[in-house]
Amino acid sequence: MAHQTDVLDLSELAWLVKSRCGVDLSRYRATTLNRRVLHRMAMTGSGDIEEYLGRLTAEPDEMEKLMDIVTIHVTEFYRDRDVFRSLERGYVPALIDEKTGAGQGIFRAWSAGCSTGEEAYSMAMMIDRAVRNVSPNTHIEVFGTDISEDSCRTARKGVYSDEKIEALPEDIRDGYFEKEGQTRKVTSGLRSLVKFMSHDLFAASPYSHLDLIMCRNVMIHFEHEVRDEVIANFHDSLQDRGLLVLGKSEAMTGPLEDLFELVEPRCKIYRKNVQEDHSRED
Ligand SMILES: C[S@@+](CC[C@H](N)C(=O)[O-])C[C@H]1O[C@@H](n2cnc3c(N)ncnc32)[C@H](O)[C@@H]1O
Repeated sequence: MAHQTDVLDLSELAWLVKSRCGVDLSRYRATTLNRRVLHRMAMTGSGDIEEYLGRLTAEPDEMEKLMDIVTIHVTEFYRDRDVFRSLERGYVPALIDEKTGAGQGIFRAWSAGCSTGEEAYSMAMMIDRAVRNVSPNTHIEVFGTDISEDSCRTARKGVYSDEKIEALPEDIRDGYFEKEGQTRKVTSGLRSLVKFMSHDLFAASPYSHLDLIMCRNVMIHFEHEVRDEVIANFHDSLQDRGLLVLGKSEAMTGPLEDLFELVEPRCKIYRKNVQEDHSRED
C-alpha cells in the first residue's frame, strides 16, 4: 500500500492525462500533484501507481475526479470582500475616469481561472456599480475563462444556490439576482456583460486591451517559472496602467516586478507600468 510520503513516478500518468484531457501536468507543482495523486490512490484502494493507472484508463469517472482535485474549483461571490471594495471605491473609478477623459468608452476585464463564474460575475457587478457613479455610458465587457469546460457550462447558466448568495449585501442580491425556485439566477442584464469560454492559461492569451485581470488562487498550483510565463502573458494583454489582481497568498517576484507597480500590497493589486516608446530613438 502506498504511503502519503511516497514520491511517485508520474510520467505515465502525465502522458495519459495529456492525451485524454490536453492538460500538461508537468506545469503544476510536483509536490502538490504527488500528494493529490496519493490521495486518489488511497480513495480508490489502489496499492501502487500501476494499479491506479489501470483504474484511470478503465474508469472515465476517475479521470474526472483526478482532474477535479488537481485543479480545485473552490470559489465564492466577492471572495476577499476588501479587494472588491478597494477596486470599486478607488482603482476602477479612477481608471474609468482616465479612459473617459481619453475618449475611450469601454472597460474590458478578465477573470482568468474563473471556476463556476462567481468571480467573473462579481467583477461585472463591481464594474457596473463603479461605472454608474463615474461614467454611465461606459460599455462593459467581462470574460471568464477556465480550463474546465464543465465549470464554464455552470458559469454560463448563472444559477446558484441560496447559500451562495445569502452573505451578499442586500442591494447586490436584489439588484443582480432573481429568484428561481430554491435557487437564484444572475439577471439577464448582468449575464449579457459576461462571456465564458474554456481556455488553458498555458496557451497564448486570447484577449488584448484589457483594463483589469483577476487571476486568483489559480497560479498557486503552478511551478514558479510557469507562473512567470503566465504573468508575462497578462502583461501583454493589459493596456498601459491596466490592473492585475493576484490571490492574497500569491506574489510577483524577480524581473516581472519591473513591469508592474504593486499599488496595494494587502490586496495584491498591481498596475502595469507605462511602456516607453523606443521606436523613434536613433
Ligand atoms: C480555486 S479556483 C479559483 C477560482 C477563482 N479565481 C477564485 O479565486 O475564487 C482555481 C481554478 O483554476 C482553474 N485552473 C487550473 N489550472 C488551470 C489552467 N491551466 N488554465 C486555466 N484554468 C485553470 C481550475 O479549473 C479552477 O476552476
